[in-house]
Amino acid sequence: MMQEPPRRLIVVLAMFVATVPFALDMYLPGLPGMAVEFGVDAGQAAHSVSAFLFGLALGQLLMGPLSDRYGRRAILALSLAIYTVANVACALATSIAQLVAFRVFEALGAGAAAVIVNALVRDMFEERASASVLSFVFMVMLMAPLFAPLQLRSIRLRNRIVMAPMTRNFSPAGVPGPDVAAYYRRRAEAETGLIITEGVGVDHPAALGEAGIGESDLPDMHGAAALAGWRHVVEQVHEAGGVVFPQLWHQGPMRMAGTGRNPDVASSRPSGLWGPAGGLTSSPSDYVDKMLASTAPMSEAEIADVIAAYARSAAHARDLGFDGIALHGGHGYLLDSFMWEETNRRTDMWGGDRTRRSRFAAEVVKAVRAAVGPDLPILYRFSQWKQQDFKARLAHTPQELEEILAPLADAGVDVFDASVRYFHRAEFAGDPV
Ligand SMILES: Cc1cc2nc3c(=O)[nH]c(=O)nc-3n(C[C@H](O)[C@H](O)[C@H](O)COP(=O)(O)O)c2cc1C
Repeated sequence: MMQEPPRRLIVVLAMFVATVPFALDMYLPGLPGMAVEFGVDAGQAAHSVSAFLFGLALGQLLMGPLSDRYGRRAILALSLAIYTVANVACALATSIAQLVAFRVFEALGAGAAAVIVNALVRDMFEERASASVLSFVFMVMLMAPLFAPLQLRSIRLRNRIVMAPMTRNFSPAGVPGPDVAAYYRRRAEAETGLIITEGVGVDHPAALGEAGIGESDLPDMHGAAALAGWRHVVEQVHEAGGVVFPQLWHQGPMRMAGTGRNPDVASSRPSGLWGPAGGLTSSPSDYVDKMLASTAPMSEAEIADVIAAYARSAAHARDLGFDGIALHGGHGYLLDSFMWEETNRRTDMWGGDRTRRSRFAAEVVKAVRAAVGPDLPILYRFSQWKQQDFKARLAHTPQELEEILAPLADAGVDVFDASVRYFHRAEFAGDPV
């Protein structure tokens, strides 16, 4: 079991350090060379932040082997050392350059210029030092929560750094090989708190195919060979101390007819629609043209089959030793297409207002919860935007979002993963997030 990192200690120390420049300035103003200015120049702060991040990155790169032996603390210590050395070296180099210029001006008899240069040297040195201390303190305070463990049902994450699911096209015939296992193992060795795998097809013939960007060799969560491949992935990740959830995926309306391992099977669309023409999309136009023709809506039997397929694949994942289940409920794929009014025009129990449109996803979550039992966490990814239309919105207010997500939480979701495209923009007007 992991030890709790000394989070409180870090924060207390950081706050203490933050007071030092201020105290020196207040109480020891006469101390030569110690006066510290509090006004932080944005450029200097940016320099310090990038030096810190650079140090951290370099530490991670260089210290991979050491981390096996000494753990994350060794990496952090080295990063901080690099950060400090880089800052001091930079400040010294600047000072030396300025001093040389000062001497030159003095030798030339330009007294006034020499005094100005001297003042510049002092200011730059002091400003750099205070900006560095402050930005370091802020970085520590900001980043400390990232390194705190997190308990999700029976699973403990060693930190809150999560690897996003990323499709790789490296599983011929749906089978993840040793290269895929080695890929995920490397992420676990780098101490990622939670690895979410690439999208993995559920046990339904129309789950996967080509969906607009030449997807191929996508992995399955069914069939003996694919399951053996995933077992090896889980073993490798666990050996390296990692936690891994498979992202269960059904492409729904995004799958191009005639592609994938079952080209004869029609794609699953709630109302036979891919989406509206003319949406803001990065999908190639020849793909969009093919997709716009409407097809048969999903029948009751197909809906039941797909729900059962999610449950089967979730049960396989649990049996293989996966630590939880991630569900791909965003980006215009099947679960999302039931939520979106443009692709769900149904008037039966699977369509209607927002809450009714989330019924299909809620039934899938219930079936997955029943299949994996109470111990494994379920993570649900959703997105306002769709690949069919980046400007699409499921909810225009937090209350509308609650109408959609509350039924999923009730059905058994533990964590929501909001895929947003623009992380720096507030989703709702006036929202501080
Ligand atoms: C190469 C690549 C493959 C991706 N594959 C998936 C995937 O299989 N499943 C998924 O949910 N998101 C996938 N994504 C999206 C990322 O997980 C991630 O959400 C995105 O890059 C960051 O944007 P966001 O904050 O809007 O989510 C992929 C992204 C890239 C760049």
